[in-house]
Amino acid sequence: MSDVTPAGPVGGGTWAGPAAGGTGVGPAGGVTPAGPVAGVAPAGPVGSVIGARPTLVVVGATGAVGTVMLDLLSTRADVWGEIRLAASERSAGKTLRVRGDDVAVSALSAEVFEGADVAMFDVPDEVSAVWAPKAVRHGVVAVDNSGAFRMDPDVPLVVPEINPEQVTNRPRGIIANANCTTLSLIVAAGALHREFGLLEMVVASYQAASGAGQAGVDTLYAQLSKVGGTRSLGQRAGDLRGVVGDFGPFPAPLVLNVVPWAGSLKGDGWSSEELKIRNESRKILGLPDLKVSATCVRVPVVTTHSAAVHAVFATNVSREEAQRVLASAPGVVLADDPDNGEFPTPADVVGTDPTWVGRVRCSPDNPRALDFFVCGDNLRKGAALNTAQIAELVAAELTGRCSAL
Ligand SMILES: NC(=O)c1ccc[n+]([C@@H]2O[C@H](COP(=O)([O-])OP(=O)(O)OC[C@H]3O[C@@H](n4cnc5c(N)ncnc54)[C@H](OP(=O)(O)O)[C@@H]3O)[C@@H](O)[C@H]2O)c1
Repeated sequence: MSDVTPAGPVGGGTWAGPAAGGTGVGPAGGVTPAGPVAGVAPAGPVGSVIGARPTLVVVGATGAVGTVMLDLLSTRADVWGEIRLAASERSAGKTLRVRGDDVAVSALSAEVFEGADVAMFDVPDEVSAVWAPKAVRHGVVAVDNSGAFRMDPDVPLVVPEINPEQVTNRPRGIIANANCTTLSLIVAAGALHREFGLLEMVVASYQAASGAGQAGVDTLYAQLSKVGGTRSLGQRAGDLRGVVGDFGPFPAPLVLNVVPWAGSLKGDGWSSEELKIRNESRKILGLPDLKVSATCVRVPVVTTHSAAVHAVFATNVSREEAQRVLASAPGVVLADDPDNGEFPTPADVVGTDPTWVGRVRCSPDNPRALDFFVCGDNLRKGAALNTAQIAELVAAELTGRCSAL
């Protein structure tokens, strides 16, 4: 093992200014990786790994989330013994780099879980639905990034900054990771909820192409190369449709466009992604009656989801109070100085760990309501980082120590 540096402190604070050499508009650079989370008591030694480092399986190691996971495993505090990589048969035999070593990818099979302790699933829902329970039958704790188990009452949905204690409450042996759009805003919303009591959220999302996986990224770049330099495009209704070719996982051209759709159609015109924000926010915050209304929109950004949030609270809230709470919240960075052009943008946030918050305003019509804008890297906190944080809590529990917390 080499190239392993300890994880830094949990994010939280105010953006001190533009990165050295930057153009000074956004919160680029200067970000310490979000580290382990305080406040969870390990359940005590479990299994056969007491004192030893647990063996980890990364299922879906070749995908958009899996790729970021390997980077995180190579840069965060190293709590793992052996790390095994698995993907589909298409990837069997490929070699990927993790912790400075070349590791061969195995085709997913029951054997990859033998003698393992924890498995992360960064694979489509239908693959997790079958294989996470199989891994559990091999004595493995499964941390699932897909949507297969998130709303199962016997599966905790964990965001370590909000409900870390839920990690040990896993009757099925599975812990779920939330959807990337929910994760992009929930750490900030949770911090404000603790202080002011959240009653309602109205959300408009601005979701990146990589939220639709590697296929989404490939589609956006292919469309960019098709339209690049053609100044006549985007000026007549429908002209892009004939030029961009394959729409990939999106229902309309994404380049030079915004698409008010993400996910699949559910009842009454809602998309699955919009309902996930509602249902998952309720479960994570422990607020079954929270009112949530979301409109999900795909934008031509490679990675990092954004959201405009209108939040209503039980008590009055001032802009200054909200800024103070956000500036000190673990995992949140406040970048809110519009006088100087400081607010988060996806292009400046991509590749960083915290949830960035700016444009904090009190509603002019309701002293109990706030509006704010959040940006979070959907492949890091929105997927791989949150999964890694959960898995590290399990690792600490399995090894019977809390030094990693
Ligand atoms: N992208 C995001 O922002 C995001 C955020 C939160 C959660 N998630 C969830 O995370 C999961 C992975 O998403 P992604 O964006 O990384 O997707 P992706 O880029 O399409 O990667 C999918 C991964 O799953 C593997 N896979 C597919 N079918 C398989 C099978 N039958 N057996 C074993 N492995 C198989 C693929 O392996 P091959 O390379 O061999 O095909 C690849 O490693 C999904 O459930 C997604 O909903 C994604």
